[in-house]
Amino acid sequence: MTKTVLSLKNVCKRFGGVVVADRIDLELHAGEVMGLIGPNGAGKTTLFNLISGVVMPDEGEIALAGRVLQTLPLYRRARLGVARTWQHMRLFGSMSVLENMLVGASNYPGESLLRLVFAGKSVREAERAAREHAMGVLERMGMASLAATSVNDITFGQQKLVGLARALMSDGPCLLLDEPMGGVEGSAYETMRSIVREEAEAGRAVCVVEHNVSFIRDLCSSAVFMVQGRILERGDVRTLLESKALAELYFGK
Ligand SMILES: Nc1ncnc2c1ncn2[C@@H]1O[C@H](COP(=O)(O)OP(=O)(O)OP(=O)(O)O)[C@@H](O)[C@H]1O
Ligand SMILES: [Mg+2]
Repeated sequence: MTKTVLSLKNVCKRFGGVVVADRIDLELHAGEVMGLIGPNGAGKTTLFNLISGVVMPDEGEIALAGRVLQTLPLYRRARLGVARTWQHMRLFGSMSVLENMLVGASNYPGESLLRLVFAGKSVREAERAAREHAMGVLERMGMASLAATSVNDITFGQQKLVGLARALMSDGPCLLLDEPMGGVEGSAYETMRSIVREEAEAGRAVCVVEHNVSFIRDLCSSAVFMVQGRILERGDVRTLLESKALAELYFGK
């Protein structure tokens, strides 16, 4: 049986009077790419925010490989291996591609002043390892030559890839991608697809929020359809994409 990496049980969240997560039960397994689809405002990003610790649930349990997450702050969840990208990228435009990736590395020593002051050699060693890791990720994306380029000077598709590259600084078991393909085309599209596929093949549990249905069809084995904070349907990706509820509530026919 495939290993359960992430599990949500009865997760609930309200903003004011609006229910944005309504008794969500979900399991994500090692090697799986699950598509999370639904209309604007369905609560997809909120679900990622609940898992990664940006917002706390009102009720319910979230566990990563059996370890309770819902009481932990965002940085602890990142260290435990919840890696994610952001719908609105959140890159530092004036910083280089490599610097943006190092900012996202949770084990990068630069984030601890004490370590910087007291642990000279091990800090340098950790920095070197983080840079090497980052360059390895960029090489896989065919973007090593852009490492020192400012993010403002690369294309939109390349910026989206930097968002993914930053998430891949974590070796954690769980990867959440929030609209990785929005506005991406051409070679960046192909790169995104093949990297996500490789990550799943290497055993990561991946969940992708995406409005690009052909990307979902190409990449995902399973899918979940969410509307107004509720999971309405779930299952095999092809069956779900042909479901009546999806046609009516998502495609509007
Ligand atoms: N921090 C917040 N405070 C109050 N309301 C919020 C907050 N974050 C999200 N919402 C509301 O929760 C609902 C779900 O938003 P969410 O961003 O999760 O939707 P989504 O499915 O990701 O939509 P999209 O496809 O447009 O990205 C929306 O009504 C949104 O306005
Ligand atoms: Mg969203």
